[in-house]
Amino acid sequence: MKILVTGANGLLGSALARQIAARDDLTLIKTDRGQLDITMADAVLETVRRERPNWIVNCAAFTQVDKCETDEALATHVNGQGAGHVAAAAADVDAGLIHVSTDYIFPGDATTPIPTNAAPGDPGRLSAYGRSKLLGEQRVRQAHTNPTIVRTAWVYGHDGPCFPAAILALAREGKLKKVVDDQRGSPTYAEDLADGILRLIDADATGDVHVVNDGACTWCEFAVEILRLAAIDLSIQPCTTAEFPRPAKRPAYSVLDLARYESLTSHRPRHWKDAIADFMADAS
Ligand SMILES: NC(=O)c1ccc[n+]([C@@H]2O[C@H](COP(=O)([O-])OP(=O)(O)OC[C@H]3O[C@@H](n4cnc5c(N)ncnc54)[C@H](OP(=O)(O)O)[C@@H]3O)[C@@H](O)[C@H]2O)c1
Repeated sequence: MKILVTGANGLLGSALARQIAARDDLTLIKTDRGQLDITMADAVLETVRRERPNWIVNCAAFTQVDKCETDEALATHVNGQGAGHVAAAAADVDAGLIHVSTDYIFPGDATTPIPTNAAPGDPGRLSAYGRSKLLGEQRVRQAHTNPTIVRTAWVYGHDGPCFPAAILALAREGKLKKVVDDQRGSPTYAEDLADGILRLIDADATGDVHVVNDGACTWCEFAVEILRLAAIDLSIQPCTTAEFPRPAKRPAYSVLDLARYESLTSHRPRHWKDAIADFMADAS
């Protein structure tokens, strides 16, 4: 089975490409932005028609959420229209499509894990990034009859900037003082997300699916665990989102419900504390 991965140099795309390459029953077609820019509809169609994959996993996205606020046109172009081009090309060759989306499409006001069929936020009240990703989901559904939309959150990994690396760098430079303690989510290791995506492909799954590591915490609790694992003795102060203003609005509650993923794959992702321990062991 041939799987084409877009955005294959990013956090998720790199992990997924490694795992596909390690499997004898799968053939990887790995594309980065230089090889396949998803905003170029004709080039996307041409590449997909040439390669004729059985599945496409769209990991390409403009993910710098604060930059999306000042360049929403680019965010819309990549995360909205670009996603639609990938979906149209997948439909053209009858390939399955995994499109990766985000908790930022939700309003962030839930208090229990968000099911796959929860209503998205009012676009006018989402961040520019959330709006562009919501448009991407809509374009994907318009272009492909049976897409798999995988929503995830709080992703970290070995192949790009991420929260654990930032926390460790700040702590080592003596610059870590306060961490936000009023946003709740599930830290998700890119390796576990990639594994979940391959399990969904193996199960021929379609529809909307949430894939995150199990359990939940605040950013501050996550930072405390990262420092503990790194044996860095530093006390950090919990703070509010209001005390740490950022250009893009972050959802206060991002915990995604895993029930549909579990019923499709008969697998529950491991707890986020086990995943971050593995990440730290691999990184050291
Ligand atoms: N990271 C998170 O916390 C998080 C949370 C929820 C959902 N997600 C979703 O997960 C997916 C993977 O994200 P990630 O964390 O792996 O992000 P990432 O590390 O930023 O990777 C995204 C990749 O897409 C590439 N890209 C950007 N514009 C492109 C274009 N026009 N054509 C082709 N490739 C392009 C980037 O290449 P360049 O580096 O060259 O720009 C980068 O390699 C995205 O859909 C994202 O929205 C991520």
